Amino acid sequence: FSKENQSTLSAYEWLTKLYHHLLRFTKDGKEGYQYLKNRGISDNAIDEFQLGFAPNVKDFTAEFLKKKGFNQALLVKAGLLSLQNDNSVTDRFRGRIIFPIRNHIGKTIAFGGRTITGGEPKYLNSSESELFQKGKILYNFDLAKKHIRKENEVILFEGYMDVISAYQAGINNVIATLGTALTEYQAKLLNRYVDTVVICYDGDNAGLEATYKAANLLRKVGCQVKIANLQDDLDPDSFIKAHGGDAFRNEVLSTGDTYIHFYMRYLKKDYNLTLEGDRIQYIENILKELAQIDSSVEREYYLSEIHKEYNISMQSLTEEIEKLRSNQG
Ligand code: UTP
Ligand code: MN
Ligand code: MN
Ligand code: MN
Ligand code: MN
Repeated sequence: FSKENQSTLSAYEWLTKLYHHLLRFTKDGKEGYQYLKNRGISDNAIDEFQLGFAPNVKDFTAEFLKKKGFNQALLVKAGLLSLQNDNSVTDRFRGRIIFPIRNHIGKTIAFGGRTITGGEPKYLNSSESELFQKGKILYNFDLAKKHIRKENEVILFEGYMDVISAYQAGINNVIATLGTALTEYQAKLLNRYVDTVVICYDGDNAGLEATYKAANLLRKVGCQVKIANLQDDLDPDSFIKAHGGDAFRNEVLSTGDTYIHFYMRYLKKDYNLTLEGDRIQYIENILKELAQIDSSVEREYYLSEIHKEYNISMQSLTEEIEKLRSNQG
């Protein structure tokens, strides 16, 4: 690490401890603590993830770090302070719950800060820096790594709270992208550690689209994917809060779809399957996807499902697939 980066890491370390202490033990962090309690987060999880609270004061952090001798320009670059028009600096994180974001060796390199009053944005993250690039970090990867290896499986969420809720439910091989877009860098990183990635994004439309993209990216780099089954507008955290960890395990994770089953479900949104024309197009699209599968057993398995569901003979389905496959060259 360069000298500058070392100083940045040191600032993040001081602040992680300070914000955590404020949240856990002081009046200044009480609203933050209360917010997490209302969301069912235990003291143990607060400690494990080093959650904290940044007071709603203009220059609380700036003053603290100044007294510690940190260079202010550096802190602006590190995404901790904001530069004002008059060249003064103010705190970037004010009145927010702080989620420390750690790199693969457990050093905090950024913060995510959640509003507790409904302000925008919902989560404010540190600005990107040499040390922190959103597309290269997976939240909680450092702690999850040994569990991921042991289970040879990783569960991929969208957000901080999903990871923390799962952890509280005793599920430890859990990580999150900071938002929905998985990058190729992250996909390749995961492929070095596991065979199977269970994608468990939010059950809303954005989550569905992001699942489609992430699944294809992961397959491209060589991972097996499973797609968890979250319905409607629930996300993993709200599902666990509503139905408990066992239900999450048994009804969401264990019943995960194969990629093809997910794709069948995903593609339906573009068609009105009560119309014959739509139905035919839909099936043809599915067949195109099936034609990519190399295992004939696997192809046959899905073809027989289509055969049963749409009453098309196995013979024409097989003919169609063979045609598509020979065109692939
Ligand atoms: P969500 O909108 O699904 O939030 O964004 P969430 O994780 O369910 O958060 P809660 O439960 O409302 O507290 C998923 C993730 O996208 C990133 C965060 O990492 C968040 O956890 N995000 C979201 C941002 O970075 N900024 C935003 O304004 C919103
Ligand atoms: Mn979401
Ligand atoms: Mn969510
Ligand atoms: Mn949520
Ligand atoms: Mn299935």
